[in-house]
Amino acid sequence: MQGNKISVLFVCLGNICRSPSAEAVFRKKAIEAGLDLNIDSAGTAGYHTGASPDKRSQEVGINRGYSFEGIKCRKVDVQDFQNFDYILGMDNENISNLLAICPEGLEDKVALFLDYADSEENQVPDPYYGGKRGFEYVLDLIELASTGLIKHIKKQ
Ligand code: 4NP
Repeated sequence: MQGNKISVLFVCLGNICRSPSAEAVFRKKAIEAGLDLNIDSAGTAGYHTGASPDKRSQEVGINRGYSFEGIKCRKVDVQDFQNFDYILGMDNENISNLLAICPEGLEDKVALFLDYADSEENQVPDPYYGGKRGFEYVLDLIELASTGLIKHIKKQ
């Protein structure tokens, strides 16, 4: 919790493609659902700290009506495990990297984002070295999981 708000942190490797897209999509869907949440994203690696989201992520996201304004890359911090209720990784490598630095007793906060999606996939694939279709597919999965996570939070 941050204040009295439920808080959600999306995590990928670079925090320039998948997790900022999840932040943008989930922020819009949460507002549409009337939920006042604290939403952020971070990366397990710090290569792009301070950078804006990847242009390809922004292009496909903006086309679907999402805003990336104000989103800047940052690395996951150990304090995040205290600050956030849901710490949602995009793939299994993100989960291992998160659990490697997670303070004891807070491991239950860490999960795969696609646990909330009605989908055959359980990981959001890294689109960084691929083409535009990969970025569209990432958004498809993120939209599905966001809808599922909203439903889950509404039931809490
Ligand atoms: P992301 O994608 O984890 O979805 O942000 C990546 C972005 C950058 C790199 C790898 C993955 N990179 O190696 O720089």
